[in-house]
Amino acid sequence: MSSLIVRGGTRPLAGAVTVPGDKSIGHRAVIFAAIADGPARVRGLSGGEDNRRTVAILRALGVAIEDDGPGALRVSGRGLDALLAAAGELDCGNSGTSIRLLSGLLASRPFVSRLGGDEYLRARPMRRVAEPLRQMGATVSGATGKKPGELYPPLTVGGLAPGKRLSGIHFDSPVASAQVKSAILLAALAAEGPTTVVEPARSRDHTERMLAALGAPLERTGDRSCTLDPRGWDRRLAARDLEVPGDLSSAAFLLGACALVPGSRVTISNVGVNPTRTGVLDVLAQMGATIDVEGLVQRGGEPVAELRGRAAPLRGVEVAGELTVRAIDELPLIAALAAHADGATTIRDAAELRVKESDRVAATAAMLRALGAEVEERPDGLVIAGGGRLRPGRVDSHGDHRIAMAGAICALAIPGETRIDDVDNIATSFPGFAATLAELGAEIG
Ligand code: S3P
Repeated sequence: MSSLIVRGGTRPLAGAVTVPGDKSIGHRAVIFAAIADGPARVRGLSGGEDNRRTVAILRALGVAIEDDGPGALRVSGRGLDALLAAAGELDCGNSGTSIRLLSGLLASRPFVSRLGGDEYLRARPMRRVAEPLRQMGATVSGATGKKPGELYPPLTVGGLAPGKRLSGIHFDSPVASAQVKSAILLAALAAEGPTTVVEPARSRDHTERMLAALGAPLERTGDRSCTLDPRGWDRRLAARDLEVPGDLSSAAFLLGACALVPGSRVTISNVGVNPTRTGVLDVLAQMGATIDVEGLVQRGGEPVAELRGRAAPLRGVEVAGELTVRAIDELPLIAALAAHADGATTIRDAAELRVKESDRVAATAAMLRALGAEVEERPDGLVIAGGGRLRPGRVDSHGDHRIAMAGAICALAIPGETRIDDVDNIATSFPGFAATLAELGAEIG
């Protein structure tokens, strides 16, 4: 297990960089290309471990996928029915998106698949996907674990009788989760009749955008709902080349560092700015950071732009409701910035953070306390006192890439040397994180 040493309070960050491809869009691009009706190229993939797991699993299911240069793959899609039973357990590693999306994909297949993962993934709740898939007629079983009545990986899915189809459902999701929504929509591609998913708040909509771009009969039926109606559709997804934009969730760490370290100016080009993901930009603006969004274009159904950040004094804010959902993966970073800000920050409605790669409410509180911050942990969020007065320390990532990176960013503005332990997981989403910060002038390595 390796560590990162961050020497904080040194020089401003400056320069122009790019970030690896968007993790969420990357998973979807390879999955949809794998079941499309012909060959297509996927470009801009991050090379991160999570996306690689999805690619390896699709290969194990018989899809021909060839490397085609850095971040690029040539995927020979031959439709959903060409998928074949894999020999052993499909290893999703640390990736919640892989296990939940692929459960939906495999639920409609005539063969049985077993999906597992690492110790962190095996502690994450899977009833949220099992339940709707069972309602559609799928067989899904899993392991028992910490919480009675909950279902954990490994999951066993599929094995539908020959000639049988799943049934379309109307599903009122109790959680705003793009993974749940996407699993249901993937199962719905092969189901009899229409499927509607309604969410309590709108989660990221990359699946809807990509399905529509590939010709699937997917319609938004409301602000928080969509319907896939396969009646009269030939069930063929168009084979189109797909380009994955840079990951805003990775760019956010650089923008946060830039806001925090006095005198900094950073430009990040080719970043996805889908409005279901830009909560972090809104929160940073409310905290007083200056981030300009330039040269907005639409690429493959997703908005992409250049982001220019500048350092600014930060103030405490309230993050709640829909904004919490739109900034969900960036909340550990926001908490790290809040510890340096003037005044308190409250994060509410974030109970979902407790079931991410780690319990991110507890892990974020522990990370900030290790650096001298005053933090109150609540069932659904955090209150961070703010006001700076932090000291260098030793942070444990709790096996979670975003805690490791948020800790490193927090440390950049603390004079002295901070050590972040267990950082190999950063490669699940942002390979090159430390190197990119170093390129901007940070003392990290
Ligand atoms: C993701 C959805 C979110 C997010 C995760 C990626 C996706 O999870 O936190 O990092 O790619 O669909 P939930 O669906 O559990 O909210």
